[in-house]
Amino acid sequence: MKISVLGTGNMGKALVKQAAAHVEGQVFWGSRNPEEAAELAKSFQLNQVVTGSYEEALQADIIIPAFPAAALMEWAAANKERLEHKIVVDISNPFTSDFSGFTTAWGESSAEGLQALLPDSKVVGAFKNTFFSVFENPVFQDQQSDVLVTGDDEEAVHQFIERFSPLPFRFIHAGKLANNRTIERFTLLELELAVRYGTYPYISLQVFGIKEAVLAPLTK
Ligand SMILES: NC(=O)c1ccc[n+]([C@@H]2O[C@H](COP(=O)([O-])OP(=O)(O)OC[C@H]3O[C@@H](n4cnc5c(N)ncnc54)[C@H](OP(=O)(O)O)[C@@H]3O)[C@@H](O)[C@H]2O)c1
Repeated sequence: MKISVLGTGNMGKALVKQAAAHVEGQVFWGSRNPEEAAELAKSFQLNQVVTGSYEEALQADIIIPAFPAAALMEWAAANKERLEHKIVVDISNPFTSDFSGFTTAWGESSAEGLQALLPDSKVVGAFKNTFFSVFENPVFQDQQSDVLVTGDDEEAVHQFIERFSPLPFRFIHAGKLANNRTIERFTLLELELAVRYGTYPYISLQVFGIKEAVLAPLTK
């Protein structure tokens, strides 16, 4: 299974570095400006990462578009057929441009919106609560942060967790996509807390009380 990360912004860079270091198999990095992606990959010494266009990135089986939420929805609508049967990892938080609120109504989430646009793809929500700078320093006071993983397709959630579990995070199966109504909103609270306590943009989530986040076997 090939993995592609799309976008060379804060999260695109953070994800591609971690995926290249820890995930087995080829990692592809797509950009609107492939030359820039190639230069970035070179400067990060990611020699094994293949760079190219968004179009080429669609060939992967697990696709992580690291776009602003509105751009994500436009991209999904334009590539609906090409994304059929693939795992599309949604990392988006639908904040307003001034970070004062959300572009989704109560009772809605970006992840569910994406799945509605891509009914024949398997949307998996992940990394929404982990700010980009945490990827650079993922261990804090000897602990790793949690990544809540959601999805309506149980097998896709398992495949994603199995593939990404070597990354320095604790991946927790966090249920259905509808839980992103809470997960996405919590990210804005994290942002406020990071600013209040002077750690911005270094903040992530850790759920207290779960000893081992072991996945229960899939029942078929
Ligand atoms: N920043 C965080 O700490 C954080 C944490 C968790 C989740 N998220 C979510 O992750 C996503 C990406 O956030 P980010 O901070 O990485 O954003 P960013 O730094 O602004 O990067 C977004 C990237 O998306 C690509 N893109 C494609 N279409 C675009 C468009 N119409 N307008 C702007 N960019 C477009 C661009 O890459 P190319 O130019 O290479 O094509 C751009 O660099 C968002 O949905 C955000 O909610 C962010």
